[in-house]
Amino acid sequence: MDNVIIMDHPLIQHKISMLRDKNTGTNEFRTLVSEIAMLEGFEALKDLPTEDVEIETPIETTMSPMIAGRKLAVVPILRAGLGMVDGILSLVPTAKVGHIGLYRDPETHEPHEYYCKLPAPIEERTILVVDPMLATGGSGSEAVDFIKQHGGVNIKFMCIIAAPEGLERLHKDHPDIQIYVGHLDRELNENAYICPGLGDAGDRIFGTK
Ligand code: PRP
Ligand code: URA
Repeated sequence: MDNVIIMDHPLIQHKISMLRDKNTGTNEFRTLVSEIAMLEGFEALKDLPTEDVEIETPIETTMSPMIAGRKLAVVPILRAGLGMVDGILSLVPTAKVGHIGLYRDPETHEPHEYYCKLPAPIEERTILVVDPMLATGGSGSEAVDFIKQHGGVNIKFMCIIAAPEGLERLHKDHPDIQIYVGHLDRELNENAYICPGLGDAGDRIFGTK
């Protein structure tokens, strides 16, 4: 699939294995999600715009590239996406942060929006949407729809674990966006949970179960 990058870096795979372990507690889980976001972000942001600034070295004055950080918006899908924000901000501290609130109906698995706030001017920014889990793809696809409706153009989506079904849906609905995946898992089960997956990412990050 065009525009889909599956990470195969051993550091990311190692940390994902630790996340999967049901004995990994909330504190360690949060730290791992943040670290994986940073490692994936390193790849996802490799085309981030830079601007030349004047720097005085001990030898002479030169023009040298620096990240135009204010042009980046990180947009977590609430709640679980919040766990990935710090990892990205540790790479680009000046990035702006938007929020999209979506939850999956437990019966129908359809996403429902309850919040959306994006940093202006959204049309001029590189937008990195983050959510650890891409299961049916409903939440990811709807989040990207909202951002496009608000004027977002240059959109990337980054998750830690994807199911084939969700990846296919997101790519089909939004063939224009780049998608970064930490690991592509086997399948969804009858409750639309990813197998082998890591369980409910939001509950494990926030300790709500
Ligand atoms: C989870 C996850 C994604 C969504 C993925 O959120 O963080 O947003 O499910 O599933 P989908 O691809 O089938 O839409 P959830 O709805 O459980 O909300 P939460 O983050 O508040 O726990
Ligand atoms: N949301 C999660 O948190 N985990 C899954 O496996 C599927 C959706």
